[in-house]
Amino acid sequence: GEKWVLSVTAQTPTNIAVIKYWGKRDEELILPINDSISVTLDPGHLCTTTSVAVSPAFTHDRIWLNGKEVSLSGGRFQNCLREIRSRATDYEDEKRGIMITKKDWEKLRVHIVSYNNFPTAAGLASSAAGLACLVFSLAKLMNVKEDHSQLSAIARQGSGSACRSLYGGFVKWIMGKEDNGSDSIAVQLADENHWDDLVIIIAVVSSKQKETSSTSGMRDTVETSELIKHRAKEVVPKRIKEMEAAIAKRDFPSFARLACADSNQFHAVCLDTLPPIFYMNDTSHRIISCVEKWNRHEGSPQVAYTFDAGPNAVLISKDRKTAALLLQRLLFQFPPQSDADLNSYVIGDKTILK
Ligand code: PMV
Repeated sequence: GEKWVLSVTAQTPTNIAVIKYWGKRDEELILPINDSISVTLDPGHLCTTTSVAVSPAFTHDRIWLNGKEVSLSGGRFQNCLREIRSRATDYEDEKRGIMITKKDWEKLRVHIVSYNNFPTAAGLASSAAGLACLVFSLAKLMNVKEDHSQLSAIARQGSGSACRSLYGGFVKWIMGKEDNGSDSIAVQLADENHWDDLVIIIAVVSSKQKETSSTSGMRDTVETSELIKHRAKEVVPKRIKEMEAAIAKRDFPSFARLACADSNQFHAVCLDTLPPIFYMNDTSHRIISCVEKWNRHEGSPQVAYTFDAGPNAVLISKDRKTAALLLQRLLFQFPPQSDADLNSYVIGDKTILK
């Protein structure tokens, strides 16, 4: 039989929301109840590396995550695979004598191998990098001609936040109006060179897996919280506009004020859920106090904080000098010890390692 294997490898950084996505209006298609804005980290730090391969020798679609085979039967994987397969186009490699037609792609099985270089499901948006990378590498492999925004709508069906990792820099996920999700896509607001001064430091408070998945958490919030309605309708639309302006002008004080307020409201909405959801812990709260005190002392924001569905702090400092001071403060206040809560610092840096 035929012995060939065709493969593609891609790497995708995670993204961190500064205006949060929380709550779906359609669970199957993953359509959100509000727009969100994120910053994609530089490649190489917190990222997923995925290789996808096809061969006539493969008999089933299979996937390995961080070295362990897991089931591909989940609806979200299947949705992404189906959407990409349906857009596959003819592929020809004359040198190797490989010709794959659109019809062949439907029958060829894929093997997927994916690694995260950071804790999975600890609220560090591992699914964002993972699903974006999966969709992107499959699209390359199957010679899909769609642009990044169209691919983002497919990644969205794998994990909402994944749609924002198709782009670098600052990205907006537009909630869209259509029931079929065709206009619920990510767009780039500014590229990775636009605001080079910012340095992002991730304080890993705990690498334990979170207790409440974002899927069930969002469902409970939408079903039981009054506050979420006010947030989605009255608060976020205004913040999105203000955040876009702050990014365009590189206005750090506004950027920081909005990002911190939005993180705090997201966690307030979690607390307003029945049963209440606690993603932050004592260490997270101490980090917030520490940053708030510092910012107040300086008279204007030096550092912004934001927390996703877990206790880890994402700290965005206005420049490298502030980032160095921030690291000193963190190390002083939370000295790394084997039994300490805060025991490692991951630097997801936007400038230092360029
Ligand atoms: O895409 P999900 O299901 O992993 O949800 C992500 C939710 C938050 O990270 C808390 C917020 C966001 O906008 O990324």
